[in-house]
Amino acid sequence: MAAKRRILIAGNWKMNGLKKDARSLAGALGTKMSKLKAKPQSKPEFEMLVCPPAALLGPVVDAVKGKGIAVGGQDCHANEAGAHTGDTSAALLKSMGCKYAIVGHSERRTDHGETDAMVKAKAEAAHKAGLSAIVCIGETLKQREAGRAKSTNKKQLAGSLPAGATAKNTVIAYEPVWAIGTGKVATPEQAQEVHALIRAELAKAIGEAEAAKMRILYGGSMKPGNAAELLALPDVDGGLIGGAALTVADFWGIAQAV
Ligand code: PGA
Repeated sequence: MAAKRRILIAGNWKMNGLKKDARSLAGALGTKMSKLKAKPQSKPEFEMLVCPPAALLGPVVDAVKGKGIAVGGQDCHANEAGAHTGDTSAALLKSMGCKYAIVGHSERRTDHGETDAMVKAKAEAAHKAGLSAIVCIGETLKQREAGRAKSTNKKQLAGSLPAGATAKNTVIAYEPVWAIGTGKVATPEQAQEVHALIRAELAKAIGEAEAAKMRILYGGSMKPGNAAELLALPDVDGGLIGGAALTVADFWGIAQAV
């Protein structure tokens, strides 16, 4: 039945920070994580991940080396290499030291017209390169108000879930678009309802055992003040955090809520 899933606290820095900011933020988190690991009884109950802008991957990987913090890309291209100016391949992310790639964030779906099929292809490219894909889905306010929150998430999940998805290579992030960067957070009831739906849909797609092990993150205005309540929900296995991932106090505060 209830599988033990390791909480993932993932920071999505989006297009924020310069080289010096990235170094100091990652460095400070690394110091905190090292201190936590050094305490005999306090092996971190969570996995920490930071996803900086692509150009800052190098300095961030260096800053967290050996500190027990994973690094991820915010996107990857579906192709392995080639004439795709400005894009980043999953293989390059891997070679830089990344473990994860976020795919299908709603800002990419909106800014770059990414469809479910494109998101699925990107997630499969991430797998091929040896990365875990964090596949984002979530409804808009309009869809929620029209009573279509469940059907929207079901459709996006079905369309974006990579072939061969397992609990090891895939994480789902439920991010209601109306909660991203708005300060409006989903209520525990709203979050749990969609997370449970996602797990039930995953069970149909990849089998109950694998679905029970797969992590489903909540994203959208998660802060130290609301994290404990959200992270305690039965089907919430971590957070994908934007604004609050940009300061040590907030991001560490969320991790402390685990
Ligand atoms: P937010 O962003 O925490 O600033 O709402 C979350 C996200 O977009 O991943």
